[in-house]
Amino acid sequence: MNEKYRSHYLGSLNSKQIDQTVTVSGWIKKKRNLGELIFVDLRDAKGYAQIIFTKDNLENYELINSLQTESVITVVGQVNARKEINSKIPSGEIEILATNLTLINMSKTSPMIIDDQTDALEDTRLKYRYLDLRRNPVIDKLRMRHKISLKIRTYLDSQDFIEIETPMLTKATPEGARDFLVPSRLNNKKFYALPQSPQIYKNLLMVGGVEKYYQIVKCFRDEDLRADRQPEFTQLDLEASFFEEKDVQILMEQLFIEMMSEIKGIDIPSDFASLTYNQAMNNYGLDKPDIRFDLQLNDLTNLFSNSDFKVFTESKTIKAIVLKDLADSYSRKTILELEEVVKKHNAKGLAWFKYTDNQLSGGISKFILEDEITKLETTLKLENNDLVLIIADEWDITCNALGNLRNYLGKKHQMYNQDEFKFVWINDWPLFEYDEEFKRYIAMHHPFTMPQNNKFEDDYLQTKARAYDLVLNGYEIGGGSVRINDRAIQQKMFELLGMDQAEIDSKFSFYLDAYEYGAPVHAGIAFGLDRIAMILSGGESIRDVIAFPKNASAKEVMMDSPTEVSSSQLKELGIKLD
Ligand code: AMO
Ligand code: AMP
Repeated sequence: MNEKYRSHYLGSLNSKQIDQTVTVSGWIKKKRNLGELIFVDLRDAKGYAQIIFTKDNLENYELINSLQTESVITVVGQVNARKEINSKIPSGEIEILATNLTLINMSKTSPMIIDDQTDALEDTRLKYRYLDLRRNPVIDKLRMRHKISLKIRTYLDSQDFIEIETPMLTKATPEGARDFLVPSRLNNKKFYALPQSPQIYKNLLMVGGVEKYYQIVKCFRDEDLRADRQPEFTQLDLEASFFEEKDVQILMEQLFIEMMSEIKGIDIPSDFASLTYNQAMNNYGLDKPDIRFDLQLNDLTNLFSNSDFKVFTESKTIKAIVLKDLADSYSRKTILELEEVVKKHNAKGLAWFKYTDNQLSGGISKFILEDEITKLETTLKLENNDLVLIIADEWDITCNALGNLRNYLGKKHQMYNQDEFKFVWINDWPLFEYDEEFKRYIAMHHPFTMPQNNKFEDDYLQTKARAYDLVLNGYEIGGGSVRINDRAIQQKMFELLGMDQAEIDSKFSFYLDAYEYGAPVHAGIAFGLDRIAMILSGGESIRDVIAFPKNASAKEVMMDSPTEVSSSQLKELGIKLD
């Protein structure tokens, strides 16, 4: 500590320093002028304490009188016991009587309230992020993020993993989003791509005999933003040789058990839940199910095979959720609000009925046949005052829309505890999905994922992947797989993804070559560090845990980036704008 500015942090002062002379520096958080006397709450990175300035004890009393809050000062003074103890803050037992005051930097009136609660809009907070960062709820989340990174590093070090950096100026990696491109001045008309992930490099580190690699690394994806998506975000990326699915999962479970205990003080059960992809979709509607609450989906496709309701007979999949004992709290109008939710997720409508006194009423009840009622009672275990909500559509639309409705209802009716953390592995993913627009298969994870049994099924869409995701409270926090380590399988994979030999050669010949020089079995995973920090710190958006995030339009409003560039810069790069 530089004694000119600080002998103690304000937040660390307590009754032990009574009668001592201390030097403190910080920002004026609050100022109350009582004429002969000015009270200041002075804040530094560790908290704040109360300082008293009096005309009798301070030569430049007029200076403190003239300062705005948020000005930065250094004060020398004597620590005294406080008459009225403030038990809310650690320094609440003491106050400092100022004998010397130095102004370091004056502050203008702040454009936003700098306190735990602020009414500033998010764009104002981001524009003046350096002021926003002075608020506890903001900085506390970054401190927690730091603890998470630190835990990751000490844990993986103890497991013999080494952190290796991989290039940022690289070639497109196929993670499925658009690339951010960087023009090269020295190689005119050519572009680097920023990595969507270090996937190819980490695979090649395994061929390189590194065996255990990890990296806390920036990744870049040009995709539409959501609360849990940023164009640049941070992964904990790792890969290990001679590891398979279970080895990766056990390694990561132990990390989360220790992290939750050390950072949150919560003991999570050591047996992590797991679901197959099909179970997740069929029972929760989403591949990232929030298993903190039940409210599972029920399949009614067979039950309604001879239905009088045309929508049902014309649809491939019919599923329902039952809101227990809540029918009387819903009207036709409030059910329409639920219909709006599912329509946002491409459902055509929301069919419903109520079950009261052993009878169906409302919605589509008039279309339901006698024998269907009996079957519904047993299949859905109907009880008095249940509200049944049904969607009929293609399998994926039905699942997805009802899964999102499930999350909406879970939140609305507070079906889970905010402080609960429930992890679940999702296994047995399909290797491919079919892209109707481009009339070809696309990899559900990425093209380096090994098929189960290390071979493709005759019906490619039936091939399952050796892939896994980890889901926490309804967020996909990580995903990984066992990788293809056989040149022939990799070649076939590229072909199935619609690449001809020329494209394979130009994009991946270096990669295929590498797998002809002794490649170990290897597996890995990557976690969204921002998402983990968001969930553990109780945030609503990953913007909360990023010091300088982009807003919803992918702009960094403080620096105002992206910006136009000068014509000379473009000329140097050989670029003409349209
Ligand atoms: P994946 O694409 O699933 O896998 O990414 C891993 C994790 O990164 C997080 N994530 C994001 N977080 C914030 N903003 C984004 N735009 C964003 N995109 C992804 C998610 C996700 O689970 N190379 C593979 C990993 C592997 O196979 O080892 C990969 O990147 O939490
Ligand atoms: P309609 O016959 O269009 O008046 O619809 C009757 C009810 O069925 C309304 O509550 C619609 O929201 C609902 N509905 C329409 N299409 C579907 C569908 N695909 N799945 C479930 N309910 C639907």
